[in-house]
Amino acid sequence: MTATSKAPTAGAPSMAHDSGELAADYEKLSASRQFETGKRLAADLAIGAGERVLDIGCGTGLLAEHIAGLVGPDGRVLGIDPLPLRIEVAQARTLANLAFEVGDANDLGALPEAGFDVVVLNAVFHWLPDKPRALVQFARVLRRGGRIGISTRPPNAAGGARHPVYEAMARAMAEPPFDRYPRPRGSFVSQVDAGEMRALLVAAGFMPTRIEVRPSAQVHATPEAAVRFSEASSFGNLLGHLPPELRPAARAAMAAKLAALMTPEGIVQQGRRLVAMAVRR
Ligand SMILES: C[S@@+](CC[C@H](N)C(=O)[O-])C[C@H]1O[C@@H](n2cnc3c(N)ncnc32)[C@H](O)[C@@H]1O
Repeated sequence: MTATSKAPTAGAPSMAHDSGELAADYEKLSASRQFETGKRLAADLAIGAGERVLDIGCGTGLLAEHIAGLVGPDGRVLGIDPLPLRIEVAQARTLANLAFEVGDANDLGALPEAGFDVVVLNAVFHWLPDKPRALVQFARVLRRGGRIGISTRPPNAAGGARHPVYEAMARAMAEPPFDRYPRPRGSFVSQVDAGEMRALLVAAGFMPTRIEVRPSAQVHATPEAAVRFSEASSFGNLLGHLPPELRPAARAAMAAKLAALMTPEGIVQQGRRLVAMAVRR
């Protein structure tokens, strides 16, 4: 099985801001949140022995390794991600039924049609600007009756305010000198709500079986850890629009705003996850 990488879609997040340090930090920091939501998604999808699973946007491969345990020696798991440095970390996981390749959700042309029983996207869908195009590709690589599971960041609840953690970071970026460098439109996350998710899945040839928004909490030990988490999970896009020499000051400015959210337990980020599961028609 092979997948190829392709030039990013215009308006997409950049793949050029990642670093070995961010990849290593993501491997550590994702264990307390993304890995937990991913394991629950895998359980909800009832991934079982012998299945062929494609983990799209696998990052450093923690979840793919977990799924390799679920499918056992008769199954196989392929993790793909456009970031070579994350795939490098993932490839240190050496299970016989597990493989990783650099690859992009927008270009699965090198993967066999109907070659998988399950497709998983954990904390990835909100990074895809062209969701209809990507979903058609996911449907192509899944066999009829195969399942897709998506756990993603939803938009703010209708009329709801931005999360205090994101609000604090945005306030720091709205001040000089950072305000001279607005983030290009469309270059960060693009979220969909439950209704939009359902419509997208149906249009791409899926039958939704479960779509729900779940609470998902995360605790950051310090304000600096909260900034680092956002930087690592956005593969550097949090500050990628700033000149490199301004980034240390931007991290400090964000941490200063986030300090107001500290509790004795740390910064408790009460988030939400949109979870969608569907069957390929
Ligand atoms: C927050 S990380 C999630 C990683 C992993 N799925 C996990 O559960 O820890 C988001 C991942 O989405 C990947 N990603 C972003 N755009 C993508 C695309 N067009 N195709 C595939 N993966 C993409 C990033 O490279 C990054 O590794």
